[in-house]
Amino acid sequence: MTSNIPDEDLLRHASRVLGQVIIITGGASGIGRAAVLEFAKRGAKIVIGDINGEASEELVNAIRISGGTAIWRVCNVLDYEDQRSLFEFALEEFGSIDVVIANAGVRETEKLVGNGVQLDKRGLPVEPKLMTVQMNFISVIYTAQLAFYYLSKATNENSLKTLILTASILSFATLNAPLYCSSKYAVFSLMQSLKPEFERSGFRIASVHPWFTDTPIVSESVRNLLYGIPLSPMYRVAGAVVLAVTDTLPGTNGAAYTIPDEREVFRIMPEHLNEGVFDLLAKRAKRVNGPLYPLITIYALARCCAGGKRMKLAAWATLAYTLWKLSSRVLSYSR
Ligand SMILES: NC(=O)c1ccc[n+]([C@@H]2O[C@H](COP(=O)([O-])OP(=O)(O)OC[C@H]3O[C@@H](n4cnc5c(N)ncnc54)[C@H](O)[C@@H]3O)[C@@H](O)[C@H]2O)c1
Repeated sequence: MTSNIPDEDLLRHASRVLGQVIIITGGASGIGRAAVLEFAKRGAKIVIGDINGEASEELVNAIRISGGTAIWRVCNVLDYEDQRSLFEFALEEFGSIDVVIANAGVRETEKLVGNGVQLDKRGLPVEPKLMTVQMNFISVIYTAQLAFYYLSKATNENSLKTLILTASILSFATLNAPLYCSSKYAVFSLMQSLKPEFERSGFRIASVHPWFTDTPIVSESVRNLLYGIPLSPMYRVAGAVVLAVTDTLPGTNGAAYTIPDEREVFRIMPEHLNEGVFDLLAKRAKRVNGPLYPLITIYALARCCAGGKRMKLAAWATLAYTLWKLSSRVLSYSR
């Protein structure tokens, strides 16, 4: 059900992570760190992959002191080999990988257009730097591919076999940060388009979309911009990650767990991600590609034939176009 989730329900099924091996990228700080602490408290075996070794070690030590199980490894998510080594490390240490959270991300520092366009000696535009997209999208593709492979090797009897992608509320809205917003939109699309294959394989996938939350990623200038507007409380964002992993409600595979502002978590079911404008576009796409298309063309043709010389010309052109479209479709089916 698409609905608000009260805070007290976020951790309702959290005990399901007991004994699960959870890999999390960017787990040493902010949202990742808060989620790690929730999982560790409930007996999950945590594997942190983060570029910040010092913060990772400190967190792992704190978890071990309080009786939990955690390991860490320096991992630069931009580097595929680094990510693969992280997965191999987890498998070697714990024998199974049950949950993966692609969480590492950065804020936008490059300026794509306007005075951000650098010119070379000849006065021509220089290829833009795309670190934000590489971090927030390409590295997530690496994690998703590795997750699919390693989840299929899970040996844990009750393995949750889950991949969670940390996107943002900016998957649905925009700000003056085109690389950040478009990469988070892409992460959301990645989740949706991977869902069928994950589901077929018995895996779960979902995305989490926080509103601004108090972490080092939120720059001073953004904080000034947001002056007076509350940030999402960290416990709620971490709770949304835990719920995304442990939700038992049928049909939540492919769901988006949003934290739209300072209010409750709002879970959007996959079928509702097609509502509104998305639904309109989906219907149009069906009209163009679906069985109604030839009927619509015949109707248009009949209207043209009833007209004068010009209309008839248009009718013949439409007919030729339709035949060409139909034949190319038949050819593509028969290939
Ligand atoms: N804080 C927010 O307002 C907010 C809102 C929406 C979405 N998010 C998303 O949440 C995720 C976590 O961000 P956060 O707010 O906790 O920020 P954060 O800066 O506290 O945490 C990011 C973590 O990623 C690690 N990291 C950075 N570059 C890395 C690399 N190349 N390889 C591996 N690890 C790397 C950092 O060391 C850090 O531990 C990000 O994907 C971010 O886009 C944050």
